[in-house]
Amino acid sequence: MSRTIVALDFSSKEEVVDFLKQFDEPVYVKIGMELTYACGLDIVETVKKMGHHIFLDLKLHDIPNTVKGGMSNLARLGVDMTNVHCAGGIAMMKAAVEGLKNGSKDGKRPLCIGVTQLTSTSQEAMNEELGIGGSVLDCVLHYAKNAKEAGLDGVVCSVHEAKAIHEACGSDFLTVTPGIRLASDSVDDQKRVATPQLAKEEGCDYIVVGRSITKANDPKAVYEQIEAVMEA
Ligand code: C5P
Repeated sequence: MSRTIVALDFSSKEEVVDFLKQFDEPVYVKIGMELTYACGLDIVETVKKMGHHIFLDLKLHDIPNTVKGGMSNLARLGVDMTNVHCAGGIAMMKAAVEGLKNGSKDGKRPLCIGVTQLTSTSQEAMNEELGIGGSVLDCVLHYAKNAKEAGLDGVVCSVHEAKAIHEACGSDFLTVTPGIRLASDSVDDQKRVATPQLAKEEGCDYIVVGRSITKANDPKAVYEQIEAVMEA
């Protein structure tokens, strides 16, 4: 399976199908809230039928019982990866894994990943707006250790925290890193950004790339260029 996950941040099924048509091989794609709220969860089946792998990025964050029920229903969709916010706490993350296990038909549940701090959150915003003291790295590491304790398979973090997370939680604890930009790209709303090359050097397991691919003149060429870096 590819280490580059393409964020399908589109608002219609037609755009998704058109975009995916240009790829001959299966792609690992991310279906998030923009697409899900536009098309409903049927879009998962559409993309699965086209042969692609799916990270369902709905970032659940609620009381444990609700997250457990939600995950149990999401597990039936047969996606490869899904996620929760680590800020929901250890009991909530444990409930997410339990829900996924309960809902999976063949005993093979989707990977469950915890979002640490969004890559659009800066150090300043975390301290002043969110009221969380200390460095982003300390907070991300703390959340990653909680996620591991709860039985999650890994975390979403920025490239800059991936190495420390692997040191603290083990090399098989997955790091999924958005905030990826090519050197020539604009940063947009992201704050903790990095290039695919740096992601590779820092040992990130998966990178999540949206606009750098989807808004490119030749998305497939950019995808292949990024994949070549990740697989080198
Ligand atoms: O277009 P861009 O490459 O910035 O898209 C990044 C994608 O990764 C978006 O779909 C966003 O929702 C997601 N994401 C993120 N930061 C996180 C978790 C998810 O940017 N911490």
